[in-house]
Amino acid sequence: MKVGILISGRGSNFEALLTATREPGYPAEIVVVISNKADAAGLAIAKAAGIETHVISHKDYETREAFDAAMDEKLVAAGAELICNAGFMRILSDGFVAKWRDRQLNIHPSLLPAFKGLHVHQRTIDAGVRITGATVHFVRAEMDEGPIVAQAAVPVLPGDTVEALADRVLAAEHVLYPLALRLVASGAARVSGEKVIIQGEVAATDGPLFVPLPL
Ligand code: GRF
Repeated sequence: MKVGILISGRGSNFEALLTATREPGYPAEIVVVISNKADAAGLAIAKAAGIETHVISHKDYETREAFDAAMDEKLVAAGAELICNAGFMRILSDGFVAKWRDRQLNIHPSLLPAFKGLHVHQRTIDAGVRITGATVHFVRAEMDEGPIVAQAAVPVLPGDTVEALADRVLAAEHVLYPLALRLVASGAARVSGEKVIIQGEVAATDGPLFVPLPL
């Protein structure tokens, strides 16, 4: 399955996906990376890997719809069949989300539906929860909503700073996103009634992902 990636920054999740897609037998390949920021570090990773890149700045478009249409054009031209949002920091228009319905994934650094939105790790620490994590889900019009493909659980440890917690969750994200993309690209995961059903052996071995406590 041909995959287009949307980024806005560092691109470490994109890099984790790239590494996975290069493993023999992985059912997806990355055909294009689009960033809305020209200085996104992820662009350099893509270029070094010989992947087609585009900078499409939202500031160059009068409307959200026009910005999304420019991205859509590049995705279609590259032959993308699925989109992975990987640290992409723009809200998408309803039309774009509808067009790519069940063909667009996002990763969010919490156990959704808890802690949608921004400043996730600070809010997680402030809430005093003991377990957090990461979620890969199909994109819907509402931010950080949509059928959940896979989740990873990560402990919140006493004295955690935002940075320490973010690093711990990010390490889980880098395992989780390639797993979720594999499930979707292979056809093992599919949306049914706004939930994701996972079929086959892969579900038995890799379904939920738990990161053990470092005791
Ligand atoms: C990740 O924590 C992801 O969950 C969130 O934004 C961050 C992106 O990091 N949506 P990177 O650009 O993939 O390194």
